[in-house]
Amino acid sequence: MTVIALEGGGLILHSPTSVDANLRDEILHLGPVVAIIAPSWWHDLYLHETLQLFPEAALYGPSTLVKWSRSLAFTAVLSDSSPSMWNREMAQEHVTGIGLFLDEVVFYHRASRSLIVADLLFNISLSDAWLTRALARIVIGPYPGCRFARLYRPLVFDRPRFRASIERILEWDFDQLIVGHGAVVQTGGKEVFREVFRWLLK
Ligand SMILES: [Fe+2]
Repeated sequence: MTVIALEGGGLILHSPTSVDANLRDEILHLGPVVAIIAPSWWHDLYLHETLQLFPEAALYGPSTLVKWSRSLAFTAVLSDSSPSMWNREMAQEHVTGIGLFLDEVVFYHRASRSLIVADLLFNISLSDAWLTRALARIVIGPYPGCRFARLYRPLVFDRPRFRASIERILEWDFDQLIVGHGAVVQTGGKEVFREVFRWLLK
C-alpha cells in the first residue's frame, strides 16, 4: 500500500493492504482518507475491509474490476484522465495493448517525483519470503531486480499500443519507483524502468 498525502490535507490509499488498528490510527494521524485506489484488477483483496474502516472515502478502480466486483460501490472508473481530486498532484496512464490480466493504471506523483505501479513490474529481492520467491521464479523470472513478468509477455496483443503507454510513462520526470510487489527503488527509478522495457522500446 502507498499512502499519498494531498496538498489539501486528504489522503489517498493506493492498493490497500490489510489495515489493523495500529495502522489505521497511524493513517488517521496523517489526515482523513478521501480516496481509495485499486490500481489493477488484481489489487482488490482488501477493498471491502478498507472501505469499512474509511467509509467516507471515494473508491476508484479499472474498468474490469468495476465490471466484475458488483458488491463494491465504485465512485468512478480509472482512465487516463485524473479526477479533479488529484489532477494537480498526480498524472495517470491506463496501460493499454496488453490483455485484461494487467488492466492497470499507473500514477505519477509530481511533488515526490514518484512512479507508482502495481504489477506492471516487480522488484522481488532475496529477502522476500521463500514462497514469494518460488512463485516469482515461475511467474516473473529470475531475481533480484526489477522485471516485467515473463508470463505477461504473451499477453501483449498490440505491441505498438503497449509501447506507446510505456513511452508516455517515460515522459514523466520520476526518480523514485514504487512497486506493488517488492522494494521501493528510491532513486534512479526511471533508468530502471527504461531498462526493464528495453525489449519493447528498441
Ligand atoms: Fe499484484
